[in-house]
Amino acid sequence: MEIHKYEKWWMIFGTGTLIVFLIILGVSAFHSGTHPNNSKWTIDYEKVDEYAPFDNPGLHKVEGKDWDYEVVLVAQAFAYNPTEIEIPVGSKVRFIATTKDVIHGLEVAGTNINMMLEPGYVSEKITTLDKAGTYTIVCNEYCGTGHALMYSTLKVVDTNDNSN
Ligand code: CUA
Repeated sequence: MEIHKYEKWWMIFGTGTLIVFLIILGVSAFHSGTHPNNSKWTIDYEKVDEYAPFDNPGLHKVEGKDWDYEVVLVAQAFAYNPTEIEIPVGSKVRFIATTKDVIHGLEVAGTNINMMLEPGYVSEKITTLDKAGTYTIVCNEYCGTGHALMYSTLKVVDTNDNSN
């Protein structure tokens, strides 16, 4: 069987792009930790305020766990509760978030924290915040007229101030 030269090039190109895409997928999944929410933790989105830990949003120091802090975030059109969080640099943190109405996003700009918040599901991410700075938590899922105004602030602060 005779395969035309251009057809051969096209087949090599097709196979090559497939391999490239699989490598990108593998690196993002296993190295960068990008994966869909496991949907194992469900919640009645109309009663979010009544259930722990969402009855007490904010930063909580925890003992005896693999992480130092838990950040509980509740999203609703068009804000996050709390509106500002301050965490010492180097902390290992578990983010726990959900939504009270429609689908929202939760992206901490400049980090690998990027979750979709779906009504009825709890999204989680465990990460170490090793770079001090002020980060903006943005909603990256279009959720209505106030979408662009929906944000919160995460301050990663250096508490070991040796200046004196
Ligand atoms: Cu919430 Cu867009």
